Amino acid sequence: MVDTDEFIDEAVPEVREQVGDENAIIALSGGVDSSVAAALAYEAIGDQLTPVYVDTGLMRKGETDQIRETFSFMESLEIVEAQDRFLDALAGVTDPEEKRKVIGEQFIREFETVARETDASMLVQGTIYPDRIESEGNIKSHHNVGGLPDVVDFDGIVEPVRDLYKDEVREVARALDLESVVAERMPFPGPGLAVRIVGEVTREKVEVAREATHVVEEELAEYDPWQAFAAVLGKATGVKGDNRVHGWVVAVRSVESRDGMTARAQELDWETLQRVQSRITGENENVARVVYDVTHKPPATIEYE
Ligand code: XMP
Repeated sequence: MVDTDEFIDEAVPEVREQVGDENAIIALSGGVDSSVAAALAYEAIGDQLTPVYVDTGLMRKGETDQIRETFSFMESLEIVEAQDRFLDALAGVTDPEEKRKVIGEQFIREFETVARETDASMLVQGTIYPDRIESEGNIKSHHNVGGLPDVVDFDGIVEPVRDLYKDEVREVARALDLESVVAERMPFPGPGLAVRIVGEVTREKVEVAREATHVVEEELAEYDPWQAFAAVLGKATGVKGDNRVHGWVVAVRSVESRDGMTARAQELDWETLQRVQSRITGENENVARVVYDVTHKPPATIEYE
C-alpha cells in the first residue's frame, strides 16, 4: 500500500518538471487510472493541461454528465461530442476486430484535432504498473482503444501513476476526493457498448444496451460483481399487450474476476433475475426477452465481441 499523501507530494512536482512550459493533453476515459493521472497533472500544471473526453455515443447512461461534474474543477476540460461521427463510421461493420479498429481510428482523429488546436507537445497517460508488465512481457496484447503515441507525435510522455497497482490508484483517487463513482466504478471496455452488441452497431441497439446495462448495474450492485452488464444479441418473438412482437434478445452477464483474464459467472437468486428481466422488458418496448449468461471465462470471454 502507498502513503497517498507522500505519493501525491512527489508526483505533482515531478509532472511539473517533466512538462516545463509546454502544453499537455490527456485522454480521459472515465476510468480510474486516467482520472487520477489527469487530476495529478492538473494540480501540477493547471490549464497547460487539456483533459479530453470523447463522447463516442457508446458510453454508459449518464457517463458524460458524470465526467462533466466530476471534473468541473478543470477549466480546460474539453468534451468532444463525437457520437454521430462514431456511429456513422460503424455503419455496416459487423466484425468485432474491425469494430475496434474503426473506433480506435476515429478516436485518434478526434484526439489529434484537440492536440493540434491546443498546441500540445506532451502526452499524459494513465498507464499503471501492471500495464507496463503486460506490454513488456507481452502476456496479453493491449486491446485498449488507441495506440496513441505511435500515431500522434509528442515530444514526451508523462505517466504519473506508472508505479502503482490498481488498488493503490483507487486509494489515491479517494485521497484526491475524486468522486467514489469514479474511484469504485466497474471496468468498462474502451470500445464501450459496441462490444456488447452482436453484429452491426445501430443507434437503436446502442440505446437498448445502454438502458439495459443501467438496470443491470443498479440491480446487481449488491452482488459486488467485477463487471455486470447487458448485451444485445439479436431478435426473437415475444408478446407485448395483445400483440406478437419481434424484439431484441438481451443477455445479462455478471462475473467475478480478479484481473479479467479468467472469470466466473455469478450465481444470482431467482428473484433478482426476475426483477432484472421485468425491468428490462418493461422499460424497453423493443425488448422481447432476457436471458442470463451462465458461462465462465474460459470458454466464453467477458464481453460479447
Ligand atoms: P474479455 O471480453 O476479453 O474482457 O474477456 C476482459 C476484460 O477486458 C475488457 N475489454 C476491453 N477493454 N478494450 C478495452 O479497453 C477492448 O477492446 C476490450 N475488450 C474487452 C473487458 O471489459 C474485461 O474487463
